[in-house]
Amino acid sequence: MIRVQDLHKEYIDGETHVRALRGVSLEIAKGEFISIAGPSGSGKTTLLNIIGCIDTADAGTVTIDDDTITGARKSDLVEIRRMKIGFVFQNFNLIPVLSAYENVAMTLSLLGLPEREIRRRSIEMLAEVGLSGMEDRRPAKLSGGQQQRVAVARALVKDPTIVLADEPTANLDSETGEAVLKLMKEINRRLGTTFVFSTHDQMVMEYADRLCSLHDGVIESDELRRSA
Ligand SMILES: Nc1ncnc2c1ncn2[C@@H]1O[C@H](COP(=O)(O)OP(=O)(O)OP(=O)(O)O)[C@@H](O)[C@H]1O
Ligand SMILES: [Mg+2]
Repeated sequence: MIRVQDLHKEYIDGETHVRALRGVSLEIAKGEFISIAGPSGSGKTTLLNIIGCIDTADAGTVTIDDDTITGARKSDLVEIRRMKIGFVFQNFNLIPVLSAYENVAMTLSLLGLPEREIRRRSIEMLAEVGLSGMEDRRPAKLSGGQQQRVAVARALVKDPTIVLADEPTANLDSETGEAVLKLMKEINRRLGTTFVFSTHDQMVMEYADRLCSLHDGVIESDELRRSA
């Protein structure tokens, strides 16, 4: 349900041209738990950002379900992102002045849901990620692992079809990182949410059902490790 075909992206910075993606094709089925691996600068973030409607490609197509996002109007991209895509970032990206609850609830407020439903779903999702009782804490009063759990809850609370996670464990110690990954996998299994995450951490790759390696903007290998 995510189909990437011959995707190209070049960044131009003054005189320098960087070909970040040089013809990437990839199909990701609903419910997959797939890792995009590759060294620094290989194009992982670029690929995730284009799939996630944060960045645009120069050539090639990306379709999500029945929507072709490449070439879509900006307003349509915003809508697709809002309805279908959850993001988890390396540095959590929580809003510091908001509580854990408010960080999660904000996503649903933006969708215009009724207050009672926002409350119920946000509290439930925070419980789901193991943060019951911490709803009122601001990010600064939470550990890195707990902050990333809030970020996972924020990504999942709107029930997206895809969660894109760009190096979600890079700022966590390995034990905490592993716990966050286990949580994502458990949610993937139970809810069937598609997860696409980038990493250069071997431990994180071990959790993937499918491992796709990028190198200099091209896919070098794509291997199924175990079935979902
Ligand atoms: N906004 C930008 N302007 C210019 N060059 C960019 C920009 N964003 C990315 N690049 C370049 O594009 C290439 C791919 O970058 P990208 O961030 O996708 O790599 P990455 O695999 O995510 O790396 P990392 O593991 O360090 O996060 C790199 O050479 C990078 O320097
Ligand atoms: Mg990156």
